[in-house]
Amino acid sequence: MGVVALVPAAGRGERLGYGMPKALVPVNGVPLLVRAVRGLLDAGCVQHVVIAAPPSDVNTVSTVTAPLAQAGGAVHVLAGGAERSDSVRLALEHAVREIPDTTVVLVHDAARAFTPPTVVKAVVDAVEAGHPAVIPVLPVADTVKLVDGSGRVVATPERSSLRVVQTPQGFDARVLLRAHESGLHATDDAGLVERLGVPVVTVAGHPDAMKITTRFDLAVAEALLAGERP
Ligand code: C5P
Repeated sequence: MGVVALVPAAGRGERLGYGMPKALVPVNGVPLLVRAVRGLLDAGCVQHVVIAAPPSDVNTVSTVTAPLAQAGGAVHVLAGGAERSDSVRLALEHAVREIPDTTVVLVHDAARAFTPPTVVKAVVDAVEAGHPAVIPVLPVADTVKLVDGSGRVVATPERSSLRVVQTPQGFDARVLLRAHESGLHATDDAGLVERLGVPVVTVAGHPDAMKITTRFDLAVAEALLAGERP
């Protein structure tokens, strides 16, 4: 089976306030995107990585990720779109068109740069076992409220049945393509697939697969890596 990972990395990352795309922000000298792609290739089951880069940074992203191809996978870089979902669709269309035998597609987030390879492998194994859509999840530590437009609480969902969702999300390539061609909208790819009525199953995520959004998150990542050689 051909496993292709799509990495939407075309966001401006303004919340980090670094004056550069978030994917290129270094942690201990290594850009988040490079760490994310390394994690995918280190899982040993991903043959191709397709990166959607900010259109003005395609050359820079190609240069910083080129050495990763030596880690055993091919790295493709293309210009991303206006929204995250556009970047995913462009990368998916590239994979289906240019990479023969694309059967399993992962959608990863460059901002989840510290996702352990074991999580990547667990997602791929579950898709290869026959599940058309697979997401890594963690239990929820906080109580979560549902509120109306004025902020008034309307419900308190049972915490034990809530999960937070991480990436990579894994799919049968045909199912993800159908979801992206459907014209439906959702905040993540599994949400799109759910709307088609396709069952989505979960595997265990990992706290290290946290999404780096703010300067606080970056500081946590730097603390995680204290002592690491770049
Ligand atoms: O902004 P946020 O962190 O939610 O973005 C999630 C991911 O989607 C990031 O890795 C970002 O680079 C990517 N993205 C993209 N194309 C866009 C906007 C965001 O690939 N137009």
